[in-house]
Amino acid sequence: MKKLTAYDVTPESVFNQRRQIIKAVGLGLVASSLPNIGVAASDSKKLAALDFKATSTSDLVLTPESKVTGYNNFYEFGTDKAAPAKFAQNFKTDPWQLEITGEVENPFVLNHTQLFNTFPLEERIYRFRCVEAWAMVVPWIGFELARLIEMARPTHKAKFVVFHTLHDPEQMPGQKNKFFGGGIDYPYVEALTIEEALNSLTLLSVGLYGKMLPPQNGAPIRLVVPWKYGFKSIKSIVKITFSETRPRTTWESLAPDEYGFYANVNPNVDHPRWSQASERVIGGGGLLAVKRQPTLMFNGYEKEVGDLYKGLDLRVNF
Ligand code: MTE
Repeated sequence: MKKLTAYDVTPESVFNQRRQIIKAVGLGLVASSLPNIGVAASDSKKLAALDFKATSTSDLVLTPESKVTGYNNFYEFGTDKAAPAKFAQNFKTDPWQLEITGEVENPFVLNHTQLFNTFPLEERIYRFRCVEAWAMVVPWIGFELARLIEMARPTHKAKFVVFHTLHDPEQMPGQKNKFFGGGIDYPYVEALTIEEALNSLTLLSVGLYGKMLPPQNGAPIRLVVPWKYGFKSIKSIVKITFSETRPRTTWESLAPDEYGFYANVNPNVDHPRWSQASERVIGGGGLLAVKRQPTLMFNGYEKEVGDLYKGLDLRVNF
């Protein structure tokens, strides 16, 4: 099978846009005081092309971009899969502030521009598996969370990394109306152990398919943890807190029997209401057919992350 990068599937208009930005940087037209700026200081609605290292290749077949950006879970904008693309269109993601705080020696804040130019961006093609038993393959653009953690210098007390989504009921109809928002107590909170957060697969993503994230996918910055169910990959993050204690995370609080803290993809541990042994391939099988494939342990990343869970009973710690 052909090895793909997002370049193989990025439309020509995006290439041209990217070339223009590179040219503009060369001419010193774009924020010349900030080296390595990969994105025009424009608002995110324009979905500017990103400047990133396109080193990643993969045998995985990419999910069509229209599915990645049109079939979403982002309950702040409604529980229907088509709702986020519809209701998040005017979501304001610039200006933005991401605060790094808690058990760290160097707390700091990144503004919108700094999200894109503080750490070198790279493309990572990952499998993405929702707990609802559907799967995609997404060409993310971002940087390793470990780079940000290094900059924050956690204290010896930092055992967990906690992520918070923006709380803004005026912009997020699901936060205003509990029924529309799926009954969640917002803001949406997720967390990883510090070891999981430092794993080199763990990404903070600012783009996909060569462009800035669209609002429905968690603009301007979201987490991507490819070996865990998608609900761990929290969107539109405004705060990252380093903590000594494990927080109550959103889905675990809502239904602790169904959604665990670890949420590692595991074909052998079923959800109480459905099997996790296989998964539906989004965009696979054509118009009428449904393509299913076997679920992979740790979503296919066992070699990279299996050691993190040595000695842990994955049925109890699901
Ligand atoms: N983050 C926030 N803030 N709110 C959400 O509802 N849904 C999660 C996760 N992150 C969610 C979230 C779930 S259940 C999944 S499967 C993924 O986002 C979906 O990401 P995608 O829409 O980019 O495919």
